[in-house]
Amino acid sequence: MVAATLKEALDGLQNSFVITDENVFRFWGAEIGDLPVHVVAAGERSKSLTVYDGCLQWLASQRATRSSTVVALGGGVIGDLAGFVAATYMRGIGLLQIPTSLLAMVDSSVGGKVGLDLEAGKNLVGAFFPPDHVALCMETLATLPVREFNNGAAEVWKYGAIMDEALFETLEARPLGPGDERLPEIVVRSVDLKRQVVEDDEFETSGRRASLNFGHTVGHALEVVTGYGPLLHGEAVSIGMVVEAAIGERLQMTDGGTSQRIARGLASQHLPVRVPGVDLATVVDAMRLDKKATAGNLALALLDGFGSSRLVSDVPESVVLECLRENL
Ligand SMILES: NC(=O)c1ccc[n+]([C@@H]2O[C@H](COP(=O)([O-])OP(=O)(O)OC[C@H]3O[C@@H](n4cnc5c(N)ncnc54)[C@H](O)[C@@H]3O)[C@@H](O)[C@H]2O)c1
Ligand SMILES: [Zn+2]
Repeated sequence: MVAATLKEALDGLQNSFVITDENVFRFWGAEIGDLPVHVVAAGERSKSLTVYDGCLQWLASQRATRSSTVVALGGGVIGDLAGFVAATYMRGIGLLQIPTSLLAMVDSSVGGKVGLDLEAGKNLVGAFFPPDHVALCMETLATLPVREFNNGAAEVWKYGAIMDEALFETLEARPLGPGDERLPEIVVRSVDLKRQVVEDDEFETSGRRASLNFGHTVGHALEVVTGYGPLLHGEAVSIGMVVEAAIGERLQMTDGGTSQRIARGLASQHLPVRVPGVDLATVVDAMRLDKKATAGNLALALLDGFGSSRLVSDVPESVVLECLRENL
């Protein structure tokens, strides 16, 4: 649901407990009114067992009950953390997601995955726990740093490439901006596209959900190889989409020129499309650790035409290496 303002989304809530981060609280705390609120540090490190424990203890101290609702007010980190809190406190209570980053609006708040990281890796603990409601408050994007905005926009370009060429063309005509009058429509369209895929494959059993991974196999590997520092997720996926489109072209699945077209679009959104200086063999090694890979071959979601994609499970490593060499 698109709510005009955050105040409107929070208005009249009872027996509800807000979990947010310090950045969102700084900008939007005044709108929370009298609702009890627990503020955690901003950033991925809050998706930890320690911070999770703090949230549960806080709910208990507030005497939250089985009929209470957790309000996850923040980006994807808060959505995953507070969502997992709601999924597990008293075996599951109410959950209202109010995503405040573009990435959380178009991606992490859709599909019901919630969870935490362990030292051993990201998202290793979690649950499928769809929220009772998602409130989309576009006004919150006004305070999102531009780099974070573009990071989320990468996923919107992805939906265009894999499912909706018309959406891609809309973005090609003019990249998305924070004050863009097209935002509500484009966010709702993105949510619908992800929802279509997720509803087809709620528990990731049919492979359909894997099509959302376009750009992500290379992207994740780049995040790992660069140590989760210099590249934000959407930035790594941006580079990944260019490389994976090139792989599709090499396998004659994807039309010639697609990779260039995608690179042009993403660059206009101020997203990186290359990352010089990474060791290619290390990237392939990291891709091999992807759970979809089999010996000697890699599994990738590739474009079979513009606006359509499918999982290909036998991509030769030699092809991947060549395309990395030509595109990174
Ligand atoms: N559950 C899923 O299906 C799913 C899907 C994709 C990503 N994720 C997860 O989402 C997380 C990334 O989400 P993210 O990119 O939103 O990161 P994030 O939550 O860390 O937010 C990015 C930064 O923007 C700040 N911020 C958020 N909203 C703001 C606002 N309105 N004004 C000012 N600052 C604001 C945050 O404090 C943070 O510093 C990762 O942990 C990832 O694993 C989950
Ligand atoms: Zn992603």
